[in-house]
Amino acid sequence: MSGDRQGLLQLEGLTKAFGGLLAVSRVSFDVAEGEILGLLGPNGSGKTTLLNLVAGALRADEGRVRLAGRDITSLPARTFQLVRPLSKLSALDNVLVARLYGRDAPGFTAARRESLQLLDVVGIRGKADAPAAHLTLMERKRVEIARALATQPRVLLLDEPLAGLNPTEVDAALNIFRRIRDSGITVVLVEHNVRAVRALCHRIIVLNYGQNVVQGAPDDVLARPEVIEAYLGKASADFQ
Ligand SMILES: Nc1ncnc2c1ncn2[C@@H]1O[C@H](COP(=O)(O)OP(=O)(O)O)[C@@H](O)[C@H]1O
Ligand SMILES: [Mg+2]
Repeated sequence: MSGDRQGLLQLEGLTKAFGGLLAVSRVSFDVAEGEILGLLGPNGSGKTTLLNLVAGALRADEGRVRLAGRDITSLPARTFQLVRPLSKLSALDNVLVARLYGRDAPGFTAARRESLQLLDVVGIRGKADAPAAHLTLMERKRVEIARALATQPRVLLLDEPLAGLNPTEVDAALNIFRRIRDSGITVVLVEHNVRAVRALCHRIIVLNYGQNVVQGAPDDVLARPEVIEAYLGKASADFQ
C-alpha cells in the first residue's frame, strides 16, 4: 500500500434507496492505492448495491465517487466486475476479448501473449483452448479473475468471488488472490469467508442496514463481539 493519504477511490456520502428502502445510506470511505479493502455485512446490508454505485451500474441518489481525484459519480459503468465467462468462447478468448477492450489495450499479438500470461497467473493455462462451458466452477472462476485483470481496472471490485467453492478450492483461490494483491492492484472485496478476508485484506469495513458501522484492521474488526454476532451471521461459524 502506498503512503499516499489521499485515497485512489473516494466515496463520500453515497446513498441509494429502492422505493422506501434505504439500501445504502451516507457511506463514506477511501481506498488507498494498492489496498485490499474487505466489505463485510449480513445479507441485505447493501454491499452489492455499494459496489454497483462505485462501478457506475447504479446511479447514486446522493453522494460522490472519485477516482484519482476525479469525480466519476455520473459516468456510465467504468470498472470491471466479475461476470460469467462467455460459455461458447474458449478460456483464452474470454480473456483476450477483455484485454482487447480494456484500458490501454495493445495490438492483437501482444494482447494474446498477455492473456496467456494471465491464464498462467490464475493457473489455467493448460485449459486455454477449452470452451468456458466445459470448465468446472473453480476453473470458470479462474477465467473470471483473469478476465477482470485483463481489463486492467484501476480498482477491481469483487462480489463474493469465493461463493460456492469448497475449502480446497478456496485455498487455491486464496493463492491466486495473494498473487494479485502482491501485484499492487487496488481491490474492494465483498466476501463472507472470514478466513479469506483475514488472509487478504489490509482493512475491513462492516456494513449494516446500508451504513458503515465498523472499520479497522481485520484482526481488530473481526474480534469485536458485535461484529461476530450481529453482522456476520452464519459466517461466524468460520471464526476459530
Ligand atoms: N434492484 C433492487 N430493487 C429493489 N431492492 C433492491 C435492489 N437491489 C437490492 N435491493 C435491496 O437493497 C438491500 C441491499 O441489497 P444488497 O445490496 O444486495 O445487499 P447485500 O449485497 O449486502 O446482500 C436489500 O434489502 C435488497 O433487497
Ligand atoms: Mg450481495
